Amino acid sequence: MTADPLVAAAAIAREKAYAPYSRFRVGAALETENGTIIFGCNVESASYGLTLCAERTALVKGVSEGFRRFVRVAVVTDADAPTPPCGACRQLLWEFAPDAVVLLANLKGQVVRYTMRDLLPAAFDARQLPG
Ligand code: THU
Repeated sequence: MTADPLVAAAAIAREKAYAPYSRFRVGAALETENGTIIFGCNVESASYGLTLCAERTALVKGVSEGFRRFVRVAVVTDADAPTPPCGACRQLLWEFAPDAVVLLANLKGQVVRYTMRDLLPAAFDARQLPG
C-alpha cells in the first residue's frame, strides 16, 4: 500500500471498523513523541448520533493510556480520494496534536499530506479561555 508504517497501521486499524450502517470503514493511527503507535477505528451505533470517528477513538485511547502529544496522524479509507477528518475530529486533534503532520490515504495508495494548521486555521483552544 505505502512505505509509511503509520499509514500501514491506519489501514490495519481500519480492518477493525464497526460500520454496519454507513459501511464506510475508517482507520486512524497516531504516532506519539516516543514513536508509540495508537490505533483507532470508527465505531457506529444503531443510535446513529453516538457514532465515534476513527480519529477520536484513537485519541481517547491514547490519552487514556497516558499520552498527551501526537506528532503524526494517519487516516485510511477506501474512498476514491483520501478522506479528510470531520470538524469534530479536527478540534479534538488540535487539543493534543496541534503541530502534527496529517497523512490522508486510501486503499489505492494515494496519500495526501497536510498539517493540523492547514486543517484548522484560527483554531479555538485554551488560549481563548479566560484566566
Ligand atoms: N468517520 C470517521 O471515522 N472519521 C471522519 O473523520 C469522518 C467520518 C466515520 C463516521 C461514520 O462511522 C462514517 O465515517 C460515516 O460518516
